[in-house]
Amino acid sequence: MGADLLTGFAPVAIAVAPDVVLLRQFVDTQPLRAAIGDVVVLAPFRHLTTPNRGTMSVAISNVGEQGWHSDIKGYRYVGVDPMTGRTWPTMPANFSDLAQRAAAAAGFLDFNPNCCLINRYAIGAKMGTHRDQDEANFSHPIVSVSIGLPAVFVWHGAVRTGTSIPVPVEDGDILVWGRSARLGYHAVRALKADSRMSVPPFRYNLTFRRTN
Ligand code: SIN
Ligand code: FE2
Repeated sequence: MGADLLTGFAPVAIAVAPDVVLLRQFVDTQPLRAAIGDVVVLAPFRHLTTPNRGTMSVAISNVGEQGWHSDIKGYRYVGVDPMTGRTWPTMPANFSDLAQRAAAAAGFLDFNPNCCLINRYAIGAKMGTHRDQDEANFSHPIVSVSIGLPAVFVWHGAVRTGTSIPVPVEDGDILVWGRSARLGYHAVRALKADSRMSVPPFRYNLTFRRTN
């Protein structure tokens, strides 16, 4: 990430829970939106099937060496996009730079993501309580970038039904969790329409991970 991607404000790091850090207004998302537009020409957004034969309300794509995939056989990472038969698009340089800088700003040095899941939420789309556990290596943090419409991310922590900490996330905010929080449960509440934004009316989320 060059200085052009910084918002110009000193980032504010807020401790949401132990080893969970919110970086408010960390990034100008305009260049990220442009990059998303480019990569989804190569790997289109799709609504994946879950192992219990449901359909995810969030549409997803991936960039990087590995991409997260779900179908009736389960959740897993794949190096080839099952929809196109091609490898996932290369992770744009401004994505990986941003992920590393955000991780470092949150106190996680040497983050080296090989995967970026791109989530697209339309109004009403949500993500149920889960934890990111399909990776083979939990020593790296998760870096989660919010773009577009505001949403409420909910941190539950070690227990699925544990205390819920609602975290309003807006365009340009980044959440980072790792170490003792790496396998924490979390969710995203159903996206609401918001008169402040945005055409098109979506929230995008970039989730950077190291899978191996
Ligand atoms: C996720 O948990 O994979 C998505 C988080 C988000 O959309 O903020
Ligand atoms: Fe997640």
